[in-house]
Amino acid sequence: MKYMSGNELREKFLKFFEERGHLRLPSASLIPQDDPTLLLIGAGMAPFKPFFTGKMKPPSPRVTTCQKCIRTGDVENVGKTARHGTFFEMLGNFSFGDYFKNEAIEWAWEFFTKVIKLPVEKLYVSIYQDDDEAFDIWHNKIGLPEDRIFRMGKEDNFWEHGVGPCGPCSEIYYDKGEEYGCGKPGCTVGCDCDRYMEVWNLVFTQFCKEEDGSYSNLDHPNIDTGMGLERLATVMQGVNSIFDVDTVKAIRDKVCEISGKKYGEEHKYDVSIRVITDHVRSVTFMTSDGVMPSNEGRGYVLRRLIRRAARHGRLLGIQGSFLAKLSAEVIEGSRAGYPELEDK
Ligand code: SER
Repeated sequence: MKYMSGNELREKFLKFFEERGHLRLPSASLIPQDDPTLLLIGAGMAPFKPFFTGKMKPPSPRVTTCQKCIRTGDVENVGKTARHGTFFEMLGNFSFGDYFKNEAIEWAWEFFTKVIKLPVEKLYVSIYQDDDEAFDIWHNKIGLPEDRIFRMGKEDNFWEHGVGPCGPCSEIYYDKGEEYGCGKPGCTVGCDCDRYMEVWNLVFTQFCKEEDGSYSNLDHPNIDTGMGLERLATVMQGVNSIFDVDTVKAIRDKVCEISGKKYGEEHKYDVSIRVITDHVRSVTFMTSDGVMPSNEGRGYVLRRLIRRAARHGRLLGIQGSFLAKLSAEVIEGSRAGYPELEDK
């Protein structure tokens, strides 16, 4: 596999889908528009809910984006592990009543095996338990052997995010190798350990979750795919964690430079270095989208992230203010994909 930088991967993905008739749109703001069910945008599809439901007409029936996302549900684990983070970029291709499962699966496979050339023998997929149509495409059209296709239940293979469009999904997994496995008998796709990593989620958006928890059929079936750029970059860069990926590592290195601490020498310092590295990305992107620290809602999320990052700075022995210097590093590393960082 050829090394690819995060910025290169983003461009390759967007270009691939542009060549297949998709309109490339810039990332939407992290602040949801007209969606009181969400505090922050946490998925590539979130800004497009009205296009899936048919409430609004999309600018094109095929769209591709790299969406800035924040998920803070696991914030307490950030830093403690090398895989949790609050900020990530999500690559996606979307069909609003246009193509469906066939193209979504075929293109995902083509991008993985022909464009970025992931080794076929490292790839596995999961499908929703009753989705024989997805099974048929993976098995008969793509030619994936049956023992590489795993059927899973609603918890794993049904995607929903607040109310609105949702549906069964099929995920592509990358086998990082035996050395990442837990070694337990039966360790395979779906195991909690680090060996089989979900990389790309293909959602077949055909239902709408209502306020009362019931599901209705959408007027037309859609496609929503999502792939974490940093996660994919760990594969393409042959590194173990998102904190080792080029754009993220540049921030991590700056934290080390400012604090005079080395990464990988002492666990408690690594925790703090990771917390700051992750949080300063969220904080910088949120601020550029106009979120201000406050006592409630998303402003409180921002305030909490700033305070956590500042506190971990003290734990590393940093005196005085330092987060602004790190923000400059975030802007430098990501302005190619997000010009708003520099503008605002
Ligand atoms: N909405 C799905 C996800 O976030 C696929 O884009 O995983």
